Amino acid sequence: MTPLSGKRILLVIGGGIAAYKTLDLIRRLRERGASVRAAMTKAATEFVTPLSVASLSGDKVYEALFSLTDEAEMGHIELSRDADLVVIAPATADLLAKLANGLANDLASTLLLATDKKVLAAPAMNLRMWLHPATQRNLTTLRNDGVLFVGPNDGDMACGEYGPGRMAEPMEIVAAIASALECRTAIPLPPGIGAWSAGTNGALAGKRVVVTSGPTHEPIDPVRYIANRSSGKQGHAIARAAAEAGADVALISGPVNLPDPAGVRTKHVETARDMLDAVDAALPADIFVATAAVADWRMAQTGASKIKKSNGGAPRLNLVENPDILATIAHRNHGRPKIVVGFAAETNDVLAHARKKLDAKGCDIMVANDVSPSTGIMGGDTNTIHIVTRDGIDSWPTLDKDEVARRLVARLARDLAAE
Ligand code: C5P
Repeated sequence: MTPLSGKRILLVIGGGIAAYKTLDLIRRLRERGASVRAAMTKAATEFVTPLSVASLSGDKVYEALFSLTDEAEMGHIELSRDADLVVIAPATADLLAKLANGLANDLASTLLLATDKKVLAAPAMNLRMWLHPATQRNLTTLRNDGVLFVGPNDGDMACGEYGPGRMAEPMEIVAAIASALECRTAIPLPPGIGAWSAGTNGALAGKRVVVTSGPTHEPIDPVRYIANRSSGKQGHAIARAAAEAGADVALISGPVNLPDPAGVRTKHVETARDMLDAVDAALPADIFVATAAVADWRMAQTGASKIKKSNGGAPRLNLVENPDILATIAHRNHGRPKIVVGFAAETNDVLAHARKKLDAKGCDIMVANDVSPSTGIMGGDTNTIHIVTRDGIDSWPTLDKDEVARRLVARLARDLAAE
């Protein structure tokens, strides 16, 4: 059994060169026990043939809105509802624009507008189209509507340019589909629309959350760097949980081996200084959660060439302190998020250190955890945390990092509502 076993995916294939990767996506989904029903835009059929899609999905491919046979077999409304999740891959600028604006002039856009299921989009387009204010505006609209996103990734593009716009890899999309199917919350929908309003999510609907996650890498020379063992699992889970609660989430991630969480704007950085710049660019926000294990020091200077081994012994590494991102943001008089959360990863006297840090950093909540190697917390899937505030300490049992994230997000939503 996998999280995808028995799940029905309605796959909307847009017209982009990345459609060839969608063929592999279908294969991966079916290997994991999901069934795939595909609808293609007319442009998509220029890139991959309906025959290839049908062969891999093992099902008929739906192409035309005004097809008597299609409508007789399964009407478009039924098609759009008879799925556990709707996935758009590749999600072209055109498809996103249509969905953001409620246009429905072909089968694909009609299905997207008619569905009552969660929608996960894997955008793919030229980087200038991706960065265009119109596309970015549409993305904001769609995120607010509860559409989830995976990617796009940075990389070489078919058009010869380099940058954001490459569709996420099939396995990243599979992971995003699994997490979208697992998340308990439904798309935030306006109240009073029949059964839909029963989805009582959106505890953070309309709120902005910025999360840092993972380690930072501080270069020593062009090939070596200072790092730490943070995996980013907890920070990424918090970003995902906040998105599931309806927030507009920016995740600033150091180098990690994790897919970007669905429904979250993820910015990848390497150093502490880059992370601070990215946090600044993502603000203002209602909540800032500093989960990242930021390196305390960096090299005073990094040379352009590799430090050579010499007979004179080991080189002296001249270190200087990095900016403290959490303290910088928490001590701001203007534009300080309403709730600032820090993480205190300690190996001894966990609570005493956390209490001290709460004041030193000026945050509202310090989440303390013991990261002694024997706990397996760093890099592991569970966490044992204590919520340290000026009012006291709330110790939680050992929980899965996703559950820690959900509970923390629920608590932050309550705190924000009480502000
Ligand atoms: O490393 P330290 O124990 O001081 O980290 C505690 C908190 O401060 C964490 O939330 C971490 O993300 C944040 N921090 C930061 N910038 C640093 C060091 C730590 O934001 N340079």
